[in-house]
Amino acid sequence: MPRQPVLEVRDLEVTFASERGVARVVDGVSFDLAPGRTLGLVGESGCGKSLTALALLGLVPPPGQIAGGTVRLDGRDLLALTEAERDAVRGRRIAMIFQEPMTALNPVFTVGDQIAEVLRVHGGVPRRQALETAVAMMGRVGIADPQARADAFPHQLSGGMRQRVMIAMAMICRPDVLIADEPTTALDVTVQAQILDLMLGMQAEFGTAILFISHDLGVVSEVADDVMVMYAGRIVEHSPATSLFSAPLHPYTLGLLQALPRVDRHLGRPPAMRGGMPDPCALPRGCRYSDRCPMAENMCRTREPSLNGAGAGRWVACLKVAP
Ligand SMILES: Nc1ncnc2c1ncn2[C@@H]1O[C@H](COP(=O)(O)OP(=O)(O)O)[C@@H](O)[C@H]1O
Ligand SMILES: [Mg+2]
Repeated sequence: MPRQPVLEVRDLEVTFASERGVARVVDGVSFDLAPGRTLGLVGESGCGKSLTALALLGLVPPPGQIAGGTVRLDGRDLLALTEAERDAVRGRRIAMIFQEPMTALNPVFTVGDQIAEVLRVHGGVPRRQALETAVAMMGRVGIADPQARADAFPHQLSGGMRQRVMIAMAMICRPDVLIADEPTTALDVTVQAQILDLMLGMQAEFGTAILFISHDLGVVSEVADDVMVMYAGRIVEHSPATSLFSAPLHPYTLGLLQALPRVDRHLGRPPAMRGGMPDPCALPRGCRYSDRCPMAENMCRTREPSLNGAGAGRWVACLKVAP
C-alpha cells in the first residue's frame, strides 16, 4: 500500500503574459509525493521545471503568475494561504535548495549565523542554542571542523561546501518536503556524488519526501524512485524509475535516454535529439513534441494527448502509446 501523500499537486498552471501573447509555461501539472520517497522531474532546459518548483512555494517571479491549480500539504492548499501563512510553511515544512548556493546565501553573514537564523525564525530557538545546533548540523552534513567553519563567509567556501551549507539550512527544521532544483549541476562529478549521497542519507534519517529536479536523466536515475518527464510545460511520462529506464513509454523519454553518454558506447558521441524545445508562445499544433518525434503521424499534429494510465503505475501522454 502506498503511503498517504504528503504533497498533492493538481492542475498547476504558470503563465507569462507578453505582447506576443500568454505563454502557459507550466500547463496542468499534477502529481503526488509520498513521505520518504524521491520523485524525479526531468526535461531539457526551458521546459518548466524551475517554475513548477517555484509555484509549489508561491514564489513565481513577476510578470509570471500562478494561473490555476492546488498544492496541498497534508491536505491544506498552500496557494490559498496568505503570504504570512506561507512564509511559516516555507523552510519549516517545505525547504528548497538550488543549483547556485551563492544566490541563496547572504554574502555578509557567516554560514553558521545563516543556518542558525532558520531555527530562530521557525523554531523560536534562542540565538546561542540555535548556533550550537547549526554547528552540529554542519558536522552532520560532512563539513569538517564545523566549529571553525561556522565563522566563515559564503565566499570563503568551495562550491561543494556551500551546497552542504544549503542542505544544512534546508534540513535543520526537518521539513516534510525538500525541493532540490538542479542541486548538483554546478559541481564536478566527484562532489556531485557526495552531495547526492548526503541528500539520500538525510532522507533516510528524517523521512523527507524529495522532489528532485534535473535536466540530466543520468543524475535522476541515481536517486529517484519515480520519474516525471516534462516537455514544453506538460508532464509527458510519469513512471516508476526502474520501468522508465528499462522500457520508456514516451518517444521523448526514449530520446533523452538515447542521448545519455554510456560507458559501454565506444562509437563516439551518443545521437543528439534533433531540434529544440518549442517557443512557449508558438507551440506546435497537436502534440507539443510532434515536430521532433520520429514516431509522429498525422493525428499527432492535430490532437493533443492527455496523460493516460498505461498500467503498472505508469502514465504517458502519447496518442500512439496510450490513445
Ligand atoms: N521571466 C520570464 N519571462 C518570460 N518567460 C519566462 C520567464 N522565466 C521563464 N520563462 C519561460 O518559462 C519557461 C520555463 O522556464 P524554467 O521553469 O526556468 O525552465 P527549466 O527550469 O526547465 O529550465 C522558459 O522556457 C521561458 O520560456
Ligand atoms: Mg531550471
